[in-house]
Amino acid sequence: MTKITTRLHEWSREVEHYADPTAEIDPNIKYGRLIFNENLLLPEEYYIEIVRHIEKKVDQAIRFYPSAKVREKVEDKLSEIYKIDREKILLTAGADEAMKLIYDMCSKITDTTLIVRPCYGMAKIYARSMRMRAEDYIIERDYTIDPDKVIERIREKNVGIVYICNPNNPLSIEFEKRDIEKIVERSDTIMMIDETYHEFGTIDHSRLVERYDNVVVIRSLSKSWGLAGLRLGYVIAPEYIIRILRGIAQPFNISSVALIALERALEMYDIVRKAIEEIKTIRDEMIKRIEEIDHVTEVFRSRTNFITFRLDNTLKNREIVKRLREKGFYVRTSSEPLLDNCIRVTVAQREVMYKFVTALEEAIYEHERSHS
Ligand SMILES: Cc1ncc(COP(=O)(O)O)c(C=O)c1O
Repeated sequence: MTKITTRLHEWSREVEHYADPTAEIDPNIKYGRLIFNENLLLPEEYYIEIVRHIEKKVDQAIRFYPSAKVREKVEDKLSEIYKIDREKILLTAGADEAMKLIYDMCSKITDTTLIVRPCYGMAKIYARSMRMRAEDYIIERDYTIDPDKVIERIREKNVGIVYICNPNNPLSIEFEKRDIEKIVERSDTIMMIDETYHEFGTIDHSRLVERYDNVVVIRSLSKSWGLAGLRLGYVIAPEYIIRILRGIAQPFNISSVALIALERALEMYDIVRKAIEEIKTIRDEMIKRIEEIDHVTEVFRSRTNFITFRLDNTLKNREIVKRLREKGFYVRTSSEPLLDNCIRVTVAQREVMYKFVTALEEAIYEHERSHS
């Protein structure tokens, strides 16, 4: 039998990590941080209100352990806002923790996941950290899902959990709900649907949880609610799954300060809704504007708070990203399939977006000139 430490050494050589882009960004940057899809449209008053509430409850927010009563209250409020059965909700430390808990649960009963790509990179990292095998299904060239192919792969590879991100990050588009439902209906697998961007899109998968006992939806409060720094999200799942997840999660996985802040934030849904609508309007306007730029060959029909677009082969996206950085704009590329030569940019205030478009045009012009 191989020594325990030898096995851990082996693992440490192959373990995959999240490539954290914050390592390269000045935390004091005022604008131009268009890399994380944070909510940049929520007004200052929203945050001031949250901070005032924390100040009023400083003992509960910092001195004391998180309160089960406050947690129940915020879960009640989420259930009321989104019209979800109370027993089907579990608050988590971001959609990330939700994903990890679900992989933790599934790793005890299956050793294979199927990841619908392109997608958010953490699914594979969590599955692999649970020592699961990660199979891929790469979507079709027309950016749709072929449910029959997915079903076949699930059977062929003996898949116990499928991860799909809809609306999709990094593509920004939505897949058809009926295609996902077909897979759910015809497979013996857990379907984890990552709805981190659902408020910016048109589809709500949470109803599927009522109809099928193999659907789990994960959501984030980082994007639409603008609370990324607090690390908040939630799971919507059948009660029997929520019961298992409660058994796996840490007792105090949500910090007191996050709970107290959320208590106040959830009372301000009107402000949040308004910011979401503004983001959607600016996004659609900017898609048209970016489409007009020379060398941009494709702009995806975003149903998120970011825009993904493709450059033609005369340019290199990484070089454009580098030039944009020099001009104060942080954006991203992706190594996911179907995203060759693409750039992803978070939707910000209209003025910032117009400056971004100008910077992009300049970067393209300079790149072209330097290679001619
Ligand atoms: C698709 C997707 N899922 C999950 C997450 C993680 O979200 P959270 O901040 O709630 O952990 C992100 C963050 O960017 C994401 O894009």
